[in-house]
Amino acid sequence: MNAVPATHTIAEQPAPSGALAEFLERKPRLLVGGEWIEAHGKGRIAVIDPATERQIAEVADADAEDVDRAVRAARAAFESGPWAVMLPDERERLMWRLADLMERHAEELAELESLDNGKPITMARLIDVPGAIAHLRYMAGWASKLDGSTFNTSLRAAPGTRFHTYTVREPVGVVGQIIPWNFPLLMATLKLAPVLATGCTSVLKPAEQTPLSALRLGELILEAGFPPGVVNILTGLGETTGAALVAHPDVDKIAFTGSTEVGKLINIAATATLKRVSLELGGKSPVIVLPDVDPQTVAAGASQAVFFNSGQVCVAGSRLFVQRRIFDKVIEGVSEASRSIVVGPGLDERTQMGPLVSQDQRDRVLGYLYFGRKQGATIAAGGDAPAHKGYYVNPTVIVDVKPDMKIVREEIFGPVVVAQRFDDLNEVAAWANDTPYGLAASIWSNDLRSVQRLVPKIKAGTVWVNCHAMIDAGMPFGGYKQSGFGREQGRAGIEMYTELKSVCMAI
Ligand code: NAI
Ligand code: MG
Repeated sequence: MNAVPATHTIAEQPAPSGALAEFLERKPRLLVGGEWIEAHGKGRIAVIDPATERQIAEVADADAEDVDRAVRAARAAFESGPWAVMLPDERERLMWRLADLMERHAEELAELESLDNGKPITMARLIDVPGAIAHLRYMAGWASKLDGSTFNTSLRAAPGTRFHTYTVREPVGVVGQIIPWNFPLLMATLKLAPVLATGCTSVLKPAEQTPLSALRLGELILEAGFPPGVVNILTGLGETTGAALVAHPDVDKIAFTGSTEVGKLINIAATATLKRVSLELGGKSPVIVLPDVDPQTVAAGASQAVFFNSGQVCVAGSRLFVQRRIFDKVIEGVSEASRSIVVGPGLDERTQMGPLVSQDQRDRVLGYLYFGRKQGATIAAGGDAPAHKGYYVNPTVIVDVKPDMKIVREEIFGPVVVAQRFDDLNEVAAWANDTPYGLAASIWSNDLRSVQRLVPKIKAGTVWVNCHAMIDAGMPFGGYKQSGFGREQGRAGIEMYTELKSVCMAI
């Protein structure tokens, strides 16, 4: 089958407001111990606007010595100084102050995010910035609620001896936090919120592709009044800054979001000092459509599930399973939806889908499309890139796929969905689980009995019903299988930043 020709014409990126220029004039460098310092590492990383392929900034590639400085600042802030003795309600108040500051600068943050990552500014305004603020405020409430328990033990000792036993939750310590480029500000805030609530300290490394919003967040953290060294921010590459942070003996925990490949490397490296590790990794999440639904309505949902953020979402609904009776109608609907998406530069208010984050990412996604065709799949919509500067890929729907194809097995992380027919629940459950990943899934049906039978069969950290990618600070989030381990958000998310200490006192 031939690819449908490119249908998306791309507008030009509007000029950014003055906020970016002002931010760059301040030359934020590395945030270490409450100061913006020059990096020891000599490497420099160009920051590119993915819509224009133009360089908009340059940041340092922090080296092992920079990492050591930052870890020492984080250790000092953790062990002594105002942060170590700060009461929970004071930490909570600082977190609210930061959230208020972010709200005051919401438009500037949204613009920075859109320029740096490529995402539509309308999405940054609707999802990234308010989501980040909501995470902070939610976690702020936990600062004062990290309680332990007392125990009714049967311990015996000398006659007359009694025991008082209880647990306390203590902050785990200095945390190295390494985040990806798909939701830079949201990821930074989501990672920092439990650190701040528990009284830990952080060395945060944003992705090399998208460091700007984390640096702006660093400025706001200082403005909010967090003591020096509580949050340290190092720009740099994974192989240099990231690897040095994971290897550093004085880091107690690593929290990572990114590829499964790097997650495995981190887990191995962290073993040397038995750091606590939490990993939020990739996915190949199934969207399962049962035959009782309205195909048009579900097509809109399935299209959103995979094309949101240009498909650069860990929970992207990238495998679509539709019951045979309504398969053609749903695929028609998703293909139609994909053609009507306004693809364009992030700062254009009309844009619904932006470019991918980088040349590398676009090449990777186009590589998958090439393999898909070569292995005999059929492109129902898209399948190519618009003839325009910028790292764009047209939203793509692929049918006639087989379970062993690369495009079915591997995370593409682009606007590409592969669709398959199924007959019954057992069949679709087996196919949905036929993946090394287990991050999320969605089921679309109002047939209560079928939904309730399917939910327990799905091996995934989150299962949505008649919705997809609904993520809330109060709901635990994480993966089964090779999608990682640990749960962020909710009570589980805060507890992951604590050690549980048992105290047993003979009285
Ligand atoms: P990546 O996993 O290499 O990058 C994520 C973060 O890890 C970045 O901050 C990077 O600097 C850091 N990193 C890289 N190598 C490291 C190392 N050896 N030690 C410590 N930190 C390291 O992801 P990349 O290369 O940007 O994207 C490749 C693929 O990964 C994507 O196509 C996608 O499939 C997947 N991915 C998944 C994400 C998710 O949210 N689940 C996010 C980003 C990428
Ligand atoms: Mg990588």
